[in-house]
Amino acid sequence: MMDATQRLVGQGCGKLILFGEHAVVWGQPAIVAGLPRGATAMVRVTDKAKLTIVNGRTGGVHAEVMPSAIGNGLEQAFQAMLDILELEGPIGVHVTIDVPIGAGLGSSAAMSVAAARALTQFVGKPMATTEVEAIVARTESIFHGNPSGIDQAAALGGGIFQYTRGTPASIEALWVEPVSVVVTETGPAPSTASMVEDVGRFHQAHPQIASRIDELVGEVVADARTALAKGDWSTVGELMNVNHGLLVSMGVSTPGLDRACHIARSAGALGAKLTGAGGGGCMFALAPESPEAVVRALQDAGFDAFEITIP
Ligand code: PMV
Repeated sequence: MMDATQRLVGQGCGKLILFGEHAVVWGQPAIVAGLPRGATAMVRVTDKAKLTIVNGRTGGVHAEVMPSAIGNGLEQAFQAMLDILELEGPIGVHVTIDVPIGAGLGSSAAMSVAAARALTQFVGKPMATTEVEAIVARTESIFHGNPSGIDQAAALGGGIFQYTRGTPASIEALWVEPVSVVVTETGPAPSTASMVEDVGRFHQAHPQIASRIDELVGEVVADARTALAKGDWSTVGELMNVNHGLLVSMGVSTPGLDRACHIARSAGALGAKLTGAGGGGCMFALAPESPEAVVRALQDAGFDAFEITIP
């Protein structure tokens, strides 16, 4: 155990789903890139058990909660972390999140991985990957209902990989040349759990159409994997546009997401799509040659866009 002056730190990556969100919940493969930014957690002995989430982009406190098995998602997640590690007492966990929060960039998984890594050091098990994975699986199911596991895989590992749900999940690392993408938040997003439930209702209402859309997403992912490996950016961009259209047909896009995609494409992006659960949240555009022009066009239209290099 640590003394009251010690601080232990853990980190987790945010993520960008390049292809295949939602269909991945229904068994199709998806391609995801871990982001160079995500969450950093610090644990220390304090006056009471408290989880503080700070928005690293604004510096403001996003949430401050105590552990509770019957509270909101964050309170339950904090309780689950302490329970899995059999921890009690006045433990303060302070997490700074450097990606838009709750917007499809994997902030919750990055937060859980960072906090779990710092807490496992606190209990004297700095390399305890099993406990970290157990914590993140539990907290992601609190936040997401029926998660595919893609967010936690990205938050734990980073890099670009193809992910297929299963026991165990299949994770195949992909080699991709670094490339510029432009990301913007388009508006508030409902919870991932509620978007996953909406897509579940779409499957119930139209089982054959929904499973054919999922299969088409799987074909897009297969072609995208080949194009990414060759650095064939114009094909990657076209496939992003197709994937966005399939997400529109699942009912998870919004006018704001569609508008941001159109603005980015008109400003020279090779392709654009929503990323994550949709219903708001983030879109990203592929802009290997002219990311500044795409950022500017989005900013002129009032979007808070930024450029990032993946992987
Ligand atoms: O957590 P989000 O908003 O990035 O969404 C995760 C991707 C989904 O496919 C929508 C859900 C899942 O668990 O795979």
